[in-house]
Amino acid sequence: MPHSSPPLIDRFGRTVNYVRLSITDRCDFRCVYCMSEKMVFLPRSEILSLEEIMALAEAFVALGVSKIRVTGGEPLVRKGALGLLRDMGRLKGLRELVITTNGAQLQETAKDLKAAGVNRINISLDSLRPERFREMTRVGDLATVLKGIEAARAIGFDGIKLNSVILRERNQDEVLDLVHYAIDRDIDISFIEEMPLGILDGRDRALDFVSSDEIRAQLSPFVELLASTETTGGPSKYYQVAGSKTRVGFISPHSHNFCSSCNRVRVTAEGRLLLCLGNEHAVDLKPWLRQNPFDPEALQAAIREAMDLKPLQHEFDLKAQPVIFRHMNATGG
Ligand code: GTP
Ligand code: 5AD
Ligand code: SF4
Repeated sequence: MPHSSPPLIDRFGRTVNYVRLSITDRCDFRCVYCMSEKMVFLPRSEILSLEEIMALAEAFVALGVSKIRVTGGEPLVRKGALGLLRDMGRLKGLRELVITTNGAQLQETAKDLKAAGVNRINISLDSLRPERFREMTRVGDLATVLKGIEAARAIGFDGIKLNSVILRERNQDEVLDLVHYAIDRDIDISFIEEMPLGILDGRDRALDFVSSDEIRAQLSPFVELLASTETTGGPSKYYQVAGSKTRVGFISPHSHNFCSSCNRVRVTAEGRLLLCLGNEHAVDLKPWLRQNPFDPEALQAAIREAMDLKPLQHEFDLKAQPVIFRHMNATGG
């Protein structure tokens, strides 16, 4: 369905052409920055059906959205995820279909993802040391994820990007190894400053904070980083590694606010349209999706109206108690 309506524009003149759809809050990992150890997941009845998610995708594309990122939790643990991606891949007007995954299922799914029309994949990778990887994900197996990355490379996507959340005293000493791992494989990597979403057990986020500038300073004696104006339409500020195909991105919600160029909204697995990752401004789209009979125009009108609620920027404070109680897995990043 090519879009014919005017684009989605918020009160601050920002055009929204990118939507992140979380298709489950469940995950087979328990990353320390994302979840608490004993996570309670949403009851299944609260989660949107695959048909409802597809109706959302159609509505956003009709409203001019050209990029959909499918997220989780871990999107590939949702039964039917591949079929859903295949349906999304057929949407006329969608320029980019992309996913963010922990990589644990990629060995089995990379081929089908490509066939479904997925253009790019972002894969979380915080450590190249098996024990540490296990500590950071609490349960993840590094070898499985590395094989998943190789499977994705072998299939050949338009882009593969690693995401590393860097925490002081945990994995900060691996930033150069991670960059070399990416360079050796001609893939990109983003370093992410941790965001305070949800209360976590046993960690002080302020103590663990490492700024993007610190990581860049750490890397610069060893790799030449050339500032680049290239963008994927996401929040990463990219640097080209001289003499390689790899770009190193920095996602710096604390140290270099990127909200003025925000082009995205997200929908949670239970159908809440979140206008900003770092705020609670939201509209529940589920009632529109479950309306009987279903009315696509009413759904589109609700989405368009919601743009007026998009706040100017996030207000993250690592030293205070989190004001956003939803964890990252319930948000999709
Ligand atoms: P591309 O640029 O399309 O490759 O994707 P991306 O980096 O935007 O998406 P990805 O899912 O890989 O997310 C990487 C990190 O960026 C995650 O920690 C997200 O939470 C964070 N992120 C994405 N969008 C936003 C945003 O609007 N605000 C904030 N604060 N963080 C965001
Ligand atoms: N802060 C920053 N990034 C996070 N991610 C998960 N939780 C957080 C957090 N609290 C990252 C994951 C994944 C992406 C979707 O978000 O590493 O790559
Ligand atoms: Fe799962 Fe991703 Fe959260 Fe890790 S960051 S627990 S892989 S949803």
